[in-house]
Amino acid sequence: MTSSSHWFRSAVVYQIYIRSFFDASDDGVGDLAGVIQKLDYLRGGPDSLNIDAIWLSPFYPSPMADYGYDVSNYRDVDPQFGTLSTFRELLAQAHDRGLKVLVDFVPNHSSDEHPWFKVSRQSRHNPKRDWYIWRDPKADGSPPTNWLSVFGGSAWELDPQTGQYYLHSFLSKQPDLNWANPEVRAAMKEVMRFWLDLGVDGLRVDAVDWLSKDLDPLADDPLDPAYDPATQKPYYSLRHLHSKKGSQEFTYLREMAEVIESYPERFMITEMHTHQWDDAKTYRNFYTKVDPAVSAPFNFEGIFSPWTAKSFKDFINDFQKLLKGDDVPVYCLGNHDKSRLASRIGRRAARTAAVLLLTLPGMPVIYNGDELGMVDGEMRREEKEDRTPERTPFPWNDHPQAGFTSGTPWLPVTPEYPRLNAATQLAEPSSLLTLYRRLLDLRHHSEALQHGRHQSFTVHPDVVSYFRESPSQKLAVFLNFSDHEITTQVPFAKGEELLSTHSRTLSEVTHTLTLRPHEGLVVALPS
Ligand code: GLC
Repeated sequence: MTSSSHWFRSAVVYQIYIRSFFDASDDGVGDLAGVIQKLDYLRGGPDSLNIDAIWLSPFYPSPMADYGYDVSNYRDVDPQFGTLSTFRELLAQAHDRGLKVLVDFVPNHSSDEHPWFKVSRQSRHNPKRDWYIWRDPKADGSPPTNWLSVFGGSAWELDPQTGQYYLHSFLSKQPDLNWANPEVRAAMKEVMRFWLDLGVDGLRVDAVDWLSKDLDPLADDPLDPAYDPATQKPYYSLRHLHSKKGSQEFTYLREMAEVIESYPERFMITEMHTHQWDDAKTYRNFYTKVDPAVSAPFNFEGIFSPWTAKSFKDFINDFQKLLKGDDVPVYCLGNHDKSRLASRIGRRAARTAAVLLLTLPGMPVIYNGDELGMVDGEMRREEKEDRTPERTPFPWNDHPQAGFTSGTPWLPVTPEYPRLNAATQLAEPSSLLTLYRRLLDLRHHSEALQHGRHQSFTVHPDVVSYFRESPSQKLAVFLNFSDHEITTQVPFAKGEELLSTHSRTLSEVTHTLTLRPHEGLVVALPS
């Protein structure tokens, strides 16, 4: 088998936020049976999107303090989402359709209700004490360091029972596991094997930057002089020199990669962050220090960069240049933690963005609902929590509650659903969903889009343009990031328009090209 035939080298991944996808049990919360019922939408049905892989948000038993990212049992399914046999059924049915399944693996922390933590907190000396990070207070009783929790406040919580603090890089209900302890690593690798043995095709590995921190000795994080309280969360008042991205991060990731390597055709995507794009070295580390044949980091620049041709051109070109050999780029433009794509850049640009995402190399990841142009939910204050606007229920049709549930949805459905829903968009030739389906179809039939090299060229400051070229095919992609028409020379003599974001007659391109406002265009060149 040639390396380019590994499924993960070009798979289009669809992120399913299960709570909000489809509710088969009518309790207002989406579930695994709901995903099974909607498999036709994803792949193998008459009107499918035809995606290649799904990434399922955490469905493990959890008190849901962080909607499943607080796991109280790593080897089961929360009753709200189904049972282990529902999961097996989902996996079997997905595989029957040729759909790969990635599950979310949350290694950095468990729930405080996990049996490991319950034992750990009981006494200062018990076999699980060192599975978490416990430290004495300072002489004045205050936390051991000034480290901050990503979600606000100190990263340390005093546990009165034993008079020590435990570390939680996220919520206090998410105590950090102590990855410096080999027993913890062994236990977590067993968890990986549990899901890989069941047959999952890969893992999305959560919050890897916090796995390693400087624990011995402990030191305060320095203040960040660039911190701007008006625009940044208090978390960013410190430079996290000691509380994350520690010296063992890649050692731990390599251990995970070794588990992945011991199964055929499996892959892991790591959730890592750079805070500035000049941090290209960070990406490079993820591709050199962890086996790139089984692992790749998410590239989140498409979420953080302003929607301008310059910033997208810059990060894509720089990033593509740093890739080597079989490195798999993993691009995404949205996820369950960030404001929705269409809210950030607008609905017209969201069409251009679809062409961008699905004509880039590697593994593009679509966040469920972005293919419909969903925007952030506007919620009443009492309904609105951190990050809920981007997690509202998926609108399936124009029935009550958007066809998501017959119960009361856990978050309100979008008021736009009578028009903005999957069924309506499937029937409309000019809808965003139809555009996504056409792009997926084009990609699946194109060797150049799946495996070809990426070579950028410049035609206009407001246009991102690149070739995708394989031995048998050459395509040119043009993306007009502006809201005005642009006429430009093209760097080839003749081409055939294959796909446009705009409904118009596709024609031949010779020497010059006129792009409508926000138009995305794919052109085939004679090879
Ligand atoms: C990741 C997840 C986010 C979660 C956090 C803690 O950033 O994407 O949803 O809250 O990790 O697990």
